[in-house]
Amino acid sequence: MMKQTLIIITLPPFLIFLFIIITGVEGAKRSFESYNNKNSVKLFVFGDSYVDTGNFLNSGSYNPPYGISFPGKPTGRFCDGRVLTDYVASFLKIKSPTPYALRNSSELQYGMNFAHGGTGIFNTLVDGPNMSVQIDSFEKLIEQRVYTKHDFESSIALVNAGGNDYATFVLKNGSLQNISVLTESLIEQMSLNLKRIHNLGINKIAIGLLEPIGCVPMLTVKSSYEKCDEAFNLVSQNHSQMLLQIVQQLNKQMGKSVFMTLDLYNSFLSIIATMQKSRVENSTVMNPLQPCCKGEDLKYFCGSVDDKGARKYSLCEKPEFSLFWDTVHPSQNGWYAVYMMLQSSLGQLIGEKNF
Ligand SMILES: *[C@@H]1O[C@H](CO)[C@@H](O)[C@H](O)[C@H]1NC(C)=O
Ligand SMILES: *[C@@H]1O[C@H](CO)[C@@H](O)[C@H](O)[C@H]1NC(C)=O
Ligand SMILES: *[C@@H]1O[C@H](CO)[C@@H](O)[C@H](O)[C@H]1NC(C)=O
Ligand SMILES: *[C@@H]1O[C@H](CO)[C@@H](O)[C@H](O)[C@H]1NC(C)=O
Ligand SMILES: *[C@@H]1O[C@H](CO)[C@@H](O)[C@H](O)[C@H]1NC(C)=O
Ligand SMILES: *[C@@H]1O[C@H](CO)[C@@H](O)[C@H](O)[C@H]1NC(C)=O
Repeated sequence: MMKQTLIIITLPPFLIFLFIIITGVEGAKRSFESYNNKNSVKLFVFGDSYVDTGNFLNSGSYNPPYGISFPGKPTGRFCDGRVLTDYVASFLKIKSPTPYALRNSSELQYGMNFAHGGTGIFNTLVDGPNMSVQIDSFEKLIEQRVYTKHDFESSIALVNAGGNDYATFVLKNGSLQNISVLTESLIEQMSLNLKRIHNLGINKIAIGLLEPIGCVPMLTVKSSYEKCDEAFNLVSQNHSQMLLQIVQQLNKQMGKSVFMTLDLYNSFLSIIATMQKSRVENSTVMNPLQPCCKGEDLKYFCGSVDDKGARKYSLCEKPEFSLFWDTVHPSQNGWYAVYMMLQSSLGQLIGEKNF
């Protein structure tokens, strides 16, 4: 316990800003062309940096090298390219919904993204809207009749949060002691949030289970990127199990499948295992537990520059072979790999038969 604590605490506080996103290089090549227009499916997104596509203005995600793989410049995504939201939108054959902070009345037809990097189910060390406040913003748009019940007939919500709540707990309390108390209150609040989104009119809601937080490079660095931190992974596992249970309960109460989980926990673990295995035979495959982009030393982070504008970060040669882009966020390649594993869940959510 002590060892983990020390490592986390000596990391620059900025790093906790970074719990959020992903996508993939092969994915970058996918066609994003066939969009419907007016009465298209809409996607509404709530949560943290793993699904934020630009709401955290003035954050590191708006500095190079974020966005280098796609679209070639920073767009406020905590990634070198596309993140989970973008892939879910492509699955629905729509454009990625506009970030709430950049909302533009001519671009409302694909829904809206309320997710904000660094935030959680409760308040975190980042001064941004927690999930309840994000849902408040959504509710206001409904009151203003920007969206109506009619719009929601074929709408989907994507919800992903929790990582930053755990990071906040550990940074404030200094250890994982009694963390299961937090898990219980997070799940309770998440359950209220999910019911609220449904009561506002959305009938299909995809919820990300918690990624294995012990595998993010911020925590694997202490083993020279060789091993995930199993104590932290147990937190994710418990969280994911409880979340799965309440989702099943909620569906039972509703008498229909409104809620569907996206198993980020097992997707990440399976991708890590596959990459580790193929690395034995193929040295081009990157160590999945190592970030592509990182600060030169602990004072710096991906995207840092000094007073004179000189780069204070290093970048791997081929981001398209990495799983993690920075110390907490998957690369586009990573998100694409995760998306591939989530396809059958997404298919079930929208009622596709052949999945
Ligand atoms: C809104 O979107 C339209 C078309 O997508 C674009 O031409 C316009 O510049 C945007 N306005 C703002 C304020 O971003
Ligand atoms: C969310 O943030 C608001 C504003 O800071 C706060 O009043 C509210 O209690 C928070 N909600 C939760 C569930 O923590
Ligand atoms: C610290 O731990 C206690 C339980 O031991 C919990 O009540 C409190 O909320 C924790 N602090 C944070 C910031 O989560
Ligand atoms: C954990 O919970 C126990 C029992 O509630 C309490 O005595 C202890 O102080 C807590 N530890 C921390 C670090 O909050
Ligand atoms: C995980 O769940 C088990 C059983 O519910 C519990 O005893 C344990 O304290 C939890 N561990 C963590 C890290 O949450
Ligand atoms: C080695 O791995 C890279 C990156 O995943 C891949 O592009 C390449 O085709 C692999 N080479 C062989 C011989 O499998």
